[in-house]
Amino acid sequence: MSTESLPKVVAIDGPAASGKGTVALRVAQALGFRYLDSGSLYRLVALRALERNVAADDAPALAQIASTLAPEFDGGRVGLQGRDVSEALRSETVSALASRVAVHAPVRSALLARQRAFRAPPGLVAEGRDMGTVVFPDAWLKVFLTASAEARARRRHKQLIEKGISAKMDDLLRDIRERDVRDTTRAAAPLVPAADAVILDSTDLTVAAVTDAVLALYRDRCGASGRR
Ligand code: C5P
Repeated sequence: MSTESLPKVVAIDGPAASGKGTVALRVAQALGFRYLDSGSLYRLVALRALERNVAADDAPALAQIASTLAPEFDGGRVGLQGRDVSEALRSETVSALASRVAVHAPVRSALLARQRAFRAPPGLVAEGRDMGTVVFPDAWLKVFLTASAEARARRRHKQLIEKGISAKMDDLLRDIRERDVRDTTRAAAPLVPAADAVILDSTDLTVAAVTDAVLALYRDRCGASGRR
């Protein structure tokens, strides 16, 4: 199949808590596309590693976990061997470990085909750190979503409080900064905007405004190419 005839991909990359998950889901719903939350795969590897006492620097064992995972995605829920692990995946322990397991090239390659398999008609909205650079370099539209670390910590704080989980702003800000450093400085698929990505700074924008901006970019591109 030529790239032209493959289902279209909208790649949304960005740092932790930039709002890309919510935006990507809304864009997917608006376009009727499939949705890939690639971070959940790294989180699943981290959760499994915690459960099996596998160390964060044991790349071969982590890659083995990555290649044998059999998660079930159902709407926003994630299942693993019949258990609903959606909440467990969001814990701060799993979040921090996910960015540590994600530095290993063998883990990343073990997850590559699994991510590409999400590309199916009528199209895919994929969010993560390397959707536009590594996983879908031929994406139809690439968006790099940023926001200041303070704005991202405030958003994460609000989300946790709404869920009844107490959290300190200072701790959240420190965690976000640490994850930014790990994600941007690692050798394998570091977090960088693709050369052809559109950079959107959401610090002062609502989720609705960012979603509209991405949909407008998508429609402009379709209009310019004459392809829907
Ligand atoms: O996006 P999310 O916060 O759920 O991702 C969890 C961790 O997985 C990130 O901190 C990042 O280190 C890693 N990740 C990655 N590449 C992706 C998606 C996530 O390295 N495409």
